[in-house]
Amino acid sequence: MRTPVSRRKFLGAAATAGLTAGLTRAPSADSPAAPRAAAGTEWPLFDATDEQALLGVLRSGRWGRTSGGARNREFETAFARRMQAKHCIATSSGTTALLTALGALNIGPGDEVVLSPYTFVATFNVITANFALPVFADTDRASLQIDPKTVAAAITPATRLLLPVHIAGTACDLDGILAIAKERSLPVLEDACQAPLAEWRGRPVGNHGIGGCFSFQASKNLTSGEGGAVITNDDDFAHRCYNFHTPGGGKPAPSSGRASNFRLTEFQAALLVSQWQRFEAQQAHRAENAAYLSKLLAAIPGVAPAQLASGNTRNGWHLYMVRYDAAQFSGLPRAKFLQALAKEGVAASSGYTALNLTPHVQALAKNPHYERIYGKAAMARWLERSRCPQNERAVEEAVWLGQTKLLGTRADMERIAEKIAGIQKRSGELVRG
Ligand SMILES: Cc1ncc(COP(=O)(O)O)c(C=O)c1O
Repeated sequence: MRTPVSRRKFLGAAATAGLTAGLTRAPSADSPAAPRAAAGTEWPLFDATDEQALLGVLRSGRWGRTSGGARNREFETAFARRMQAKHCIATSSGTTALLTALGALNIGPGDEVVLSPYTFVATFNVITANFALPVFADTDRASLQIDPKTVAAAITPATRLLLPVHIAGTACDLDGILAIAKERSLPVLEDACQAPLAEWRGRPVGNHGIGGCFSFQASKNLTSGEGGAVITNDDDFAHRCYNFHTPGGGKPAPSSGRASNFRLTEFQAALLVSQWQRFEAQQAHRAENAAYLSKLLAAIPGVAPAQLASGNTRNGWHLYMVRYDAAQFSGLPRAKFLQALAKEGVAASSGYTALNLTPHVQALAKNPHYERIYGKAAMARWLERSRCPQNERAVEEAVWLGQTKLLGTRADMERIAEKIAGIQKRSGELVRG
């Protein structure tokens, strides 16, 4: 029923059309009037195999894993095998994958969890959903990943978990994190929501600590609209995750008295199974384009690609991140650089703002439950503990190109670099104008 899209076919078609032959392009978020440089922005992509997969579930009447559907199991088996993990538990989102893992670890009130500040807010939310205290480490500005040195400083006797994030699909410095975790006897849960197929020293991320969590939300490189997964090599943790994600559980693990329903539907699982067939080829294409773009950008001062820590043997390329140095662009502020780029048909983003400074995060300090659990004075101190000076600078410098850009052609990469170089040439003029 499913016809795998071969890598050669994929790359051949992508070279001419910027896309896989025969795949339908969902409407682009970019302006329809945007010039050619916006190619490769269409997402998601699908063909008849995806339609058949969805229809197959529809007609089977088995729409959920509890009604006898086999697509969840099929996806879990394929994903676990490829990620070199013993177990995979599919969930309804990346958030619920993280909630499942935190639930399985029985994280709760009074516990501290150390996390990356340069991340999507969900990493923070899953900690507060458990009434645990999020403690931010800081960011390494060169890589935009969590800085292990600051993880050590964030640990207290109340720390129960380290939750580093592989942001942009790039592995963070796992050697540093794992060494600290070992020294302090703490579990590491990898937020690999953006990073399927990324590797650290030849081993897929999500596989280096107690477990790893993935997201298949609509913007992700592998997507079913919403969806997620936990992977692990630990039998007991796998059973606890399984039991947490579905009421009634059923796996042989002692209960903590806590559980939920975070199951993925069979429709989403079927879509993941069919999308999975072309995922490797798409990732290879993104990697080739990213390498080419980095080579081209090396000739332009002031747009340095985010540094990759040495253990990064394979990148997941969810985002292509660069550090913008306005000084090399006649002082042109980043916002104006992004505007100029958009005018040239290259949609790029400034990425995350400083998470610890958002009203959402700051509100926690005054949350009555938190004041009751941790004390008013401790919550006031928590705000101080939450300062991340390097991250606050990093968020001012970042420029992101989304993963769909990397599905374009080599000529698209050349166009992006040309446009950036052109803006640099005109930057004096743009500053004055
Ligand atoms: C780093 C990170 N963590 C967690 C999540 C949460 O995943 P989801 O949106 O599938 O709930 C995301 C997704 O956007 C993410 O990028």
